[in-house]
Amino acid sequence: MDFDAIAPSYDRNMQRFRDIQGEIEEILSFLEIKPHHSLLEIGTGTGEFALAAARRCARVYAIDISPGMLQYAREKSQGQGISNISFLVGGFLTYHHHDGPLDAIVSQIAMHHLPDFWKQIALLNIASMLRPGGRLCLRDIVYSFDPGDYERQIERFISKTMEKAGPGFAQSMTSHINKEFSTMDWIMRGLIERAGFVIEREEQKEGFLGLYLCKKI
Ligand SMILES: C[S@@+](CC[C@H](N)C(=O)[O-])C[C@H]1O[C@@H](n2cnc3c(N)ncnc32)[C@H](O)[C@@H]1O
Repeated sequence: MDFDAIAPSYDRNMQRFRDIQGEIEEILSFLEIKPHHSLLEIGTGTGEFALAAARRCARVYAIDISPGMLQYAREKSQGQGISNISFLVGGFLTYHHHDGPLDAIVSQIAMHHLPDFWKQIALLNIASMLRPGGRLCLRDIVYSFDPGDYERQIERFISKTMEKAGPGFAQSMTSHINKEFSTMDWIMRGLIERAGFVIEREEQKEGFLGLYLCKKI
């Protein structure tokens, strides 16, 4: 997907499909963010979460591999008078944090860009940047339906997406399922735990959306 090109329409499309504000509040309450904390968001996209987090903590590092998404997010932060976010070009595998251990790391709908082996490396990198007891929130397209029934499950999900967000978005979900690296819930759980996290809460929604609220051991 060309994220540089879709930045301006991204928020509008996502709002038809997700409860963005509800998601943000759910994550912020799990993270127990304090005013002196610093937080990293990986794959920030248009920065909706980073902007909300920046109002509650000392510094947010918002990284993405798409300069177009970052520029869009940066302009939004300037428009809202928020100055404690560092927008940086960087990815799951290439970003290394040099400003001291982080209190929290968040990534939403982004890790599926990596095949499973590289998800494991990304999670080890994430663990190395967090302080002990630091929190990780990971949300992504993760498959928790019965693979024996995959055709019916995918058909049901795509037609629900069509109803909620229209044919363009349903088409992009079809392409996601065919070409991207969403994995199964039990694999994702193993990858997270093997990187040194305890999963404190896990939710699977509609067989396609996984949320993992974790603490570094
Ligand atoms: C579907 S968007 C999600 C944006 C935002 N986190 C959200 O919840 O709406 C995926 C984002 O991940 C970014 N991305 C893709 N591969 C990445 C990687 N290897 N490292 C970091 N970000 C990546 C894309 O540029 C894009 O902005």
